Amino acid sequence: MSQFDLEDLPTNLSDNEHFHSIVERVISRRGFLKLGAGASAAAFLGGMLSACGGSSSGSNPASASSLLGFKPVEKYTGDQVVVPEGYSVSVLAPWGTPLFGSTAAYRDNDSNSAADQAEQVGDNHDGMHYFPINGSEEGLLVINHEYHERTMYADREPKTLDDCRKSQHAHGVSVLHIKKNAQDRWEVVVDSRYNRRIHGNTETKLTGPVAGDDLVVTSADPLGKTVLGTLNNCGNGHTLWGTYLTCEENFNQYFGTTSPEAADGNDPRDALLRRYGINRAASGGTYRWERFDDRFDYMKEPNEPNRFGWIVEIDPFDPDSPPLKRTALGRFKHENCAMTLSRDNRVVVYSGDDQAGEYIYKFVSDGYYDPNNPIGNRELLKEGKLYVARFEDRAPRGEGMLGTGRWILLDKNENEHLRQNDHDFPDQAAVLVKTRLAADAVGATPMDRPEWIAVHPKTGEVYCTLTNNKGRTESEVDGVNPRASNIYGHIIRWREAGDDAAALEFEWDLFVLAGNPNVYPPNHPRAGSANVTRDNAFNSPDGLAFDADGRLWIQTDGDDSDAGDFAGQGNNQMLAADPATGEIRRFLYGPKGCEVTGIAWTPDQRTMFVNIQHPGGSWPKSQWPEITGGGARPRSATVVITKDDGGVIGT
Ligand code: FEO
Ligand code: CA
Ligand code: CA
Repeated sequence: MSQFDLEDLPTNLSDNEHFHSIVERVISRRGFLKLGAGASAAAFLGGMLSACGGSSSGSNPASASSLLGFKPVEKYTGDQVVVPEGYSVSVLAPWGTPLFGSTAAYRDNDSNSAADQAEQVGDNHDGMHYFPINGSEEGLLVINHEYHERTMYADREPKTLDDCRKSQHAHGVSVLHIKKNAQDRWEVVVDSRYNRRIHGNTETKLTGPVAGDDLVVTSADPLGKTVLGTLNNCGNGHTLWGTYLTCEENFNQYFGTTSPEAADGNDPRDALLRRYGINRAASGGTYRWERFDDRFDYMKEPNEPNRFGWIVEIDPFDPDSPPLKRTALGRFKHENCAMTLSRDNRVVVYSGDDQAGEYIYKFVSDGYYDPNNPIGNRELLKEGKLYVARFEDRAPRGEGMLGTGRWILLDKNENEHLRQNDHDFPDQAAVLVKTRLAADAVGATPMDRPEWIAVHPKTGEVYCTLTNNKGRTESEVDGVNPRASNIYGHIIRWREAGDDAAALEFEWDLFVLAGNPNVYPPNHPRAGSANVTRDNAFNSPDGLAFDADGRLWIQTDGDDSDAGDFAGQGNNQMLAADPATGEIRRFLYGPKGCEVTGIAWTPDQRTMFVNIQHPGGSWPKSQWPEITGGGARPRSATVVITKDDGGVIGT
């Protein structure tokens, strides 16, 4: 039974009708929220303050916009990183940076070896976290490396196993000991005992219900417990006990087959391989490891793909510890993950599956977090319950929110749909390996590509970017994915019932509908919500994180053509929002062709780290960050942002 007063809403509305029905409902409750550039940010502010006046948000900042003190940056389409007046930016740890004194220097001509790459910073920096050693002066910066650039291979495909190894070693995670030098400039501490590369061939351990299961047994690992490598390390999370969580996203693209059985129109894949997008073509664009490395041939090793698509826990302070694949959290294309605590101190981890029409999940640990038991906490991600979200277009009891939703348990014994299907789901290990299929079976809500999730540090409300979904049709529109052909994306948020992260019901709302008032008139669905203006317009929200004060930082990975539907938006960017008021200000632009992703802070919030991924990706003329001189190839890197007066970033 729902604790909310439910109210059925009309269905089968067309795109605009449905969209405006949602708006009408908000207006009728709040009285002032309007869509489009014509409505002022202040109007949205009032609505947000009203909406957040409930018990979950009592600690919201008192005054509108007090969180955002910087002057917004203007539209930019060049090849540098741009930050507001009064801020400075420098480059740290680009792809190829040596971790040790004995490591070969980065060479710009592809002549570094696979062995070099295993001791150099990886490629395509993504999620990231700072773990203090000496407060805000010295710590471990842990960085994900999502994939690698095709330019690593002279003619864009591997010719040898060693080529594949080099590519595999460019993936994974870097643990970098960093420290401020005498000039207050952050540097990598070369030869630190903490420096570590975890990559596509590092030995990792499966833990939890799937460890040892038949579905993860391979010829190299008959016990099904030891996996070589972590791949496609996209967003991240971190734990309350000082470990790092790296999220395996598009792992399917590393698998292919050379088998004649799969050629000429034959397709011997089973439902599991298909549901996760493993196919002959998947690796054809870039990797082709299956030609030289049998474990990436899904006909030779059909269970190897089942050993990827997990959240992996890493202890950055113990360079000898194996990364732990946490199977209880489910297997899908994890974007990032966000940890919080339930009212009774169980650990709750949210994670989205980034593909059009995929789902949002939540894990609740069986055990309880105890700050006085650091060793015991280390087991909390081993066992627990996994849920998937169903959003409902129903009016909630609380003011301001747009609908309700519920968390559906994915448990072999407790969920009727799974209990009755012993063929597909003989046990809980199968439910977890086949998380997507289990979620299909229970009627989860298909979303517009869930990317990052972040939990407000003061209110506990949860925010999630839905980056875009061009393929959503009018008949598939629903309240929480309110636009067909959603080219700009949106950010949703939800409030768990009773402000308890372990609750089975929640209320949801739309925080922002991205859009472009430079192109579309007010009240057009593509103009976006009232907190989108000509001066802050963006598309494809992706990275998302709160700082300790509750500023919401939004990073984009979208169309940076600055033309057509995207005219006036410039390069990919980072914005800051005040969740209480809804105001959004543009803080940073990346160089042309990049994606801005990954964010971390020192504890004093006076240093911010942001990753610039694939500069020049859509614009090969980029030379950012130009470390190796004129004509250098673009390289992914971290940038360090400080305020010239030494203040907190964003104020
Ligand atoms: Fe790796 Fe969905 O971004
Ligand atoms: Ca992303
Ligand atoms: Ca993205």
